[in-house]
Amino acid sequence: MISIMLIAGNWKMNYGLKELYDFSNTFKSFEPSKDIDLCIIPPFPIIKEAKHIFQETKINVGAQCCHYKLEGSFTGDVSPKLLSEIGCDYVITGHSERRSNHFETNAYVKNTVLSLINKNITPIICVGETQEEKRKGNTFNFIKKQVSESVPIINDALIVVAYEPIWAIGSGNIPSEEEIEKIHNLIREELNSIPYLKVIYGGSVNEKNCKEIFSIPSVEGALIGGASLNFKEFLAIYNSGVKYLNSFKR
Ligand code: PGA
Repeated sequence: MISIMLIAGNWKMNYGLKELYDFSNTFKSFEPSKDIDLCIIPPFPIIKEAKHIFQETKINVGAQCCHYKLEGSFTGDVSPKLLSEIGCDYVITGHSERRSNHFETNAYVKNTVLSLINKNITPIICVGETQEEKRKGNTFNFIKKQVSESVPIINDALIVVAYEPIWAIGSGNIPSEEEIEKIHNLIREELNSIPYLKVIYGGSVNEKNCKEIFSIPSVEGALIGGASLNFKEFLAIYNSGVKYLNSFKR
């Protein structure tokens, strides 16, 4: 069964084994909701250990990127095949930091998604406009193009698209509720032939603003960078999502 929301913490190039064990301690009291998947996305070398320590729990583990080929002469790259062998549940592809620093193009992202699906890993595909595109009033067209070129139409597996405006990442600024709603609806319309689609928001999500973000009807979770490094805050964000969904059950 596919959950309603996904809350994922992207550790980026931070933390190691010590913090992984700290995370595990903080999450000892974690009560997972069947409505919200939780995922941590640590650096590559500790993914296997993370899978090991969370094997009896509902905590998912992801990777921050991977190559689109399953194997070959690609020094320093990591294959979706290997990530699947070590039990990776999710992989981010097309994060803006990968697009700008490592030349992950829309075509690269699309091919990566196909390989991940082939290996039964759920892709988290990031899209988002720059400050400059926003200033020019070009957000809508920019996202439309990025989505159509990065996301393959898949009808038998879950696809997660994360709307992450680049200017919102790590800046403390977020779009208005109307802006988020408008872009999430655009993504849904563009991908309306994908039956299992989740559209989540990323960019400066924290304990203070998450309630407002989760209450936007088209938001089905969050990809969290900075705030996921504070484990108590990450847990509070998760619990805020649970509280929001539970409010519909009464
Ligand atoms: P942030 O990062 O939450 O620190 O803004 C989000 C991301 O880069 O995925």
